[in-house]
Amino acid sequence: MIDPFGRTISYLRVSVTDRCDFRCVYCMAEEMTFLPKREVLTLEELDRVCSAFVRLGVRKLRLTGGEPLVRRNIMSLFRGLSRHLRAGALDELTLTTNGSQLARYADELRDCGVRRVNVSVDTLDPAKFTEITRRGRLEQVLEGLAAAKRAGLAIKINAVALRGVNEDEFDDLVAWAGGEGFDLVIIEVMPMGDIGGENRLEQYLPLSLVRARLQRRWTLDETDYRTGGPARYVTVRETGRRLGFITPLTHNFCESCNRVRLTCTGTLYMCLGQEDAADLRTPLRQSESDAPLDAAIRAAIDRKPKGHDFVIDRRHQRPAVARHMSVTGG
Ligand code: 5AD
Ligand code: SF4
Repeated sequence: MIDPFGRTISYLRVSVTDRCDFRCVYCMAEEMTFLPKREVLTLEELDRVCSAFVRLGVRKLRLTGGEPLVRRNIMSLFRGLSRHLRAGALDELTLTTNGSQLARYADELRDCGVRRVNVSVDTLDPAKFTEITRRGRLEQVLEGLAAAKRAGLAIKINAVALRGVNEDEFDDLVAWAGGEGFDLVIIEVMPMGDIGGENRLEQYLPLSLVRARLQRRWTLDETDYRTGGPARYVTVRETGRRLGFITPLTHNFCESCNRVRLTCTGTLYMCLGQEDAADLRTPLRQSESDAPLDAAIRAAIDRKPKGHDFVIDRRHQRPAVARHMSVTGG
C-alpha cells in the first residue's frame, strides 16, 4: 500500500480496548466513560481486520490500548495473529503495555512470537508512580519487566516528560535502563483528549531541555538508527544503550511516516494528529466476504494526509484532537 505522498504503509497499530487499569494524568481523566461492548470489535473481528491489512502489505503489527493485556482472552488474538509470523507474511508482532499484567503473560507472549515489548515507566519513585498513573503500583510493573526479561523479550521503556513531575529523574532513568539492558524513549506530552483538570501547558516540558540536562552527565553519540517511527535515537556511550526522543511538538517527522492506526471500534486513523478517519466496522460487519473491507482500507490509504500540526501554547490549550490516546493507540 502506497499513499499519495509515496510513503509505503507497512505498519498497523491496533488499539484492542479503550480500557485500562491505570488513569495516567496525561492520558485520561480521573472519571472515564468507556465504550459499550457492542461498539468494540470482537476478538474475531480484530483478527479479521488485522489479517486484511497483512494481506494488503502490512509487515508489522502492534497491539495497544488502553491496556491491551486487560482485555479478556487477549492471548487468543495474539495466538491467532502469530500464524502470519509463521507464514512469513508478517515480520513483527509487538505490543505497547503499561506492564501491570506482564508477569502473567510474558511467557505466553514469547510463545506467540512476540520478541519485543514497549513498556511505559515515567518514574522510578513508587509514590510518584502512583500519582502519575492515579492507581498503578510500580512494584507490579517492575515484576512484569523482570518476567519479560526472563522470557527473553527485548524491552523498550517509554517515559513521558512532565514538567515539575519527573523532570529531575531522567539521569536515573537512563542509568536504570542502561543497567537493565533496556532501550529508553522519552516522549514529549501530546495534546490528545480532554484530561480533566490538568493543564497541558503546565505538563509540557520541551525535550530540548531534557536533552541538554542529560548531556551534563552522559555522552550522547549521534546514530542514524531509525525504526521508521518518530523517535530520533542517540547511543548513551556510558551504558551502550539507545536513547530515543519523540518530539511531536518541536519536530515534524511526518515525511517518513509508515503507519496507520485502528481504534477498538474499527475506525482507521490515517494520522495521529488529524480528525479524518475511515469506518472499517461497517464493511467488516456488512459482509462475510473481505472485499468491502479491503476496498475501504485502500480508499483510506489513498487519503492519508501529509502531516499533523500539534501546538501547545497559551492560545491553544484545548486538545488538538478530541480523542484520547487510549482510543487511538499510542
Ligand atoms: N502524550 C504523550 N504520550 C502519551 N501517552 C499516552 N498519552 C500521551 C500523551 N497525551 C504515551 C503513554 C505510552 C504511550 C503508548 O503513549 O505513556 O508510553
Ligand atoms: Fe493506561 Fe497507557 Fe493511558 Fe496510562 S497512558 S492510562 S497506562 S492507556
